[in-house]
Amino acid sequence: MENLFSLNGKVALVTGGGRGLGEAIATALAEYGADVALAGRTLPDLEDVATRLRALGRRSQAFQVDVTRVESIERLAKEVVAAFGRIDILVNNAGLNIIKCALDVTEEDWDRILDTNLKGTFFCCQAVGRVMVAQNHGRIVNIASQMAKVGWYKRSAYCASKGGVAQLTKVLAVEWAQNNVTVNAVAPTFIETQMTAKMFEDEQFRQSVLDRIPLGRLGKPKDVAAAVIYLASEAGDLVTGSTLLVDGGWTAW
Ligand SMILES: NC(=O)c1ccc[n+]([C@@H]2O[C@H](COP(=O)([O-])OP(=O)(O)OC[C@H]3O[C@@H](n4cnc5c(N)ncnc54)[C@H](O)[C@@H]3O)[C@@H](O)[C@H]2O)c1
Repeated sequence: MENLFSLNGKVALVTGGGRGLGEAIATALAEYGADVALAGRTLPDLEDVATRLRALGRRSQAFQVDVTRVESIERLAKEVVAAFGRIDILVNNAGLNIIKCALDVTEEDWDRILDTNLKGTFFCCQAVGRVMVAQNHGRIVNIASQMAKVGWYKRSAYCASKGGVAQLTKVLAVEWAQNNVTVNAVAPTFIETQMTAKMFEDEQFRQSVLDRIPLGRLGKPKDVAAAVIYLASEAGDLVTGSTLLVDGGWTAW
């Protein structure tokens, strides 16, 4: 069988690509053959990742973006097209969480989480979707969370934002199917990254999470990157509107 996972000749854009899951996803995309534009708030970490991807023999460049600001996103899409000529794959990975009981969540907390995770994802889809619709080809992968499907303590705004991402993914999949643009989401369980390192220092919390995962381990960035490669490559050509759970079975019971 031909290599259905090859991304040779494709151009990918990864938001929040300077560390954590974004870095792992960007690295996997490059390893499978794609040139990779990395976007995020601060350039130095993105430049480091871009240097490592160029060492793999791919084109890679860092771009500044604040995904909470639409004009910043629109500028990013233009800059990436100017530099790379097209965008075949968009991975909306930039995201954040503020862990607080519902009774303590402030308006500012709510707006930061929703503006980054949901509004940012939508307007990145819109700006890059325009490019993909014009190309009559595109693959969008939104990084949601298992918390798009289930609730969890101290994550009211986060769960709302990721549930919104899963719904948004379905609507865009339906609207852009006629343009050969697929839109899917990946919904990871707890993955060991900078975002979660601090909370897993608490052994009791770590065990409570492991007790919920039938496969008995936390996720690794490669677990998420592999799902992204599937959805971004020819292997996933008939898949659109899906939210692929990478959760070790958390949501199965
Ligand atoms: N780590 C996990 O356990 C886990 C589980 C499920 C889903 N996720 C999701 O995966 C994604 C990546 O998570 P991570 O663990 O790598 O987190 P992380 O904090 O290590 O990385 C998030 C990245 O997003 C960037 N970012 C945040 N706000 C931004 C903005 N306004 N504009 C541009 N970039 C911005 C950050 O600079 C950072 O590079 C997030 O969407 C997160 O919600 C993570």
